[in-house]
Amino acid sequence: MGTFSLVVVSNRLPVDHEDGPENADGTAAPDVWRTSPGGLVTALEPLMRSSGGAWVGWPGVADRSFEPFQNDGINIVPVRLSAAELEEYYEGFSNDTLWPLYHDVIAAPAFHRETWEAYVTVNRRFAAAAAASAALGATVWVHDYQLQLVPRMLREARPDLVIGFFNHIPFPPYGIYAQLPWRKQILHGLLGADVIGFQRVADAGNFSRAVRRLFGYPTRGVVIDVPNGDDASSIEAGSTGARSTGARGAGARSTGARSAGATRRVIAKHFPISIDAAAYEEMARRPEIQARARQIREDLGSPKTLMLGVDRLDYTKGIGHRIKAFGELLAEKRLSVEDVTLVQVASPSRERVETYKVLRDEIELAVGRLNGDFSTISHTAISYHHHGYPREEMVALYLAADVMLVTALRDGMNLVAKEYVAVRFDGDGVLVLSEFAGAADELKQAILINPHDIEGTKDAIERAVVMPKRERTRRMRALRKKVSENDVAAWSASFLRTLTGGAAVQAGIPDD
Ligand code: G6P
Repeated sequence: MGTFSLVVVSNRLPVDHEDGPENADGTAAPDVWRTSPGGLVTALEPLMRSSGGAWVGWPGVADRSFEPFQNDGINIVPVRLSAAELEEYYEGFSNDTLWPLYHDVIAAPAFHRETWEAYVTVNRRFAAAAAASAALGATVWVHDYQLQLVPRMLREARPDLVIGFFNHIPFPPYGIYAQLPWRKQILHGLLGADVIGFQRVADAGNFSRAVRRLFGYPTRGVVIDVPNGDDASSIEAGSTGARSTGARGAGARSTGARSAGATRRVIAKHFPISIDAAAYEEMARRPEIQARARQIREDLGSPKTLMLGVDRLDYTKGIGHRIKAFGELLAEKRLSVEDVTLVQVASPSRERVETYKVLRDEIELAVGRLNGDFSTISHTAISYHHHGYPREEMVALYLAADVMLVTALRDGMNLVAKEYVAVRFDGDGVLVLSEFAGAADELKQAILINPHDIEGTKDAIERAVVMPKRERTRRMRALRKKVSENDVAAWSASFLRTLTGGAAVQAGIPDD
């Protein structure tokens, strides 16, 4: 039992450990902590800074133990993972099985029994660390696909807790999900939570459908009635049928788990995640960042149109499709390198996973070919950067970019799209956005594309380049309204309200 009334659990901490340089006398320098990558961290940081809660997660390096510490106003509780666990749990089951499976099998998922075993072991360790940090009756909020067994493990260890889960990535349609050999165990793990949050309406629907198909539990809109005593042994024995459900449970609070009723009520609902829009705008208004944006344009030879792509180097992001479309537009002389430059930031990601190694080679070959074919001495077609950048530099890039290209083949939300909009306080800039990114549900005034349709994507890019100022302003104004109204504080407040609101509030949750 711990002391924190709010505990967040995610695979990655907001900071990664880096070994500092040795001191001149040969002694080890103090630990260096660097902001870690990805949308999850971007989204959760503001909540954790304001709540005084604890953040349980992996510090980004293998085989190292660290005591809990404070970083930038956040209480950090590091969980140790061995090199073998990282290989099997993180690179293996999380990123070579679940990630491709949950993203429409864009890459083929691997199914290995050993990596599943490691996933179970590591989930148990995260659950134990969370249980040790949480005060009596605390709220524990578990995040993302790496930790889907934690809600159930926590409920079994600490029935006093209120347990939430948020899935930052898509939840696949049943026909795809059903491929997973451990499909029942994962659902069972998730159903240990009181509230299970998803990015899109469709994700929550896919989850509820899987629960109906595999367990036969009754679902009504966002409510799932889970029988009390749905223990792990019955799952492992392969039970698929519905059990008697009887009277309704006591609501989504953990009181439901402890109630004598026959069912516990679980909510599965969409809560589209966002960013700290005001903080991005504040950065964009800083004179030094605006000066940096001007400098970037100048350094690129002051192109008429600067296009930008910002992604982790991941096969879900459709970077290859984007490059193909741009190359064809240049080849067909619908765009010219004298006028248009594409800046592509591809931040390194999961570099030990084979699919990511192959992707990097493919993308860099495509960039090299395109530049070889079209660049001139004074104009580079694609300015490609395989780096992560500090947030200030990203904001300057967003400010400098006339057109932002988000061409994901599948993406839970895509916070880059929202960051671009938040930064454009000048009301200018055009967002080209894939309909397969969760952000497309809200950002309807972007130019929406199907990135598989290369002709359609080319038309959209061309349209963005020539769009008259009035139309740009009108669209950007509408987009900015969405992003500022539904910022990350509203997202976490809405999730936590649903989680801790009690039975009466739960009953009133609309079926949307
Ligand atoms: C996505 C996932 C996060 C993950 C991030 C970075 O945003 O939803 O869970 O942390 O990518 O990926 P990595 O594997 O480096 O943690």
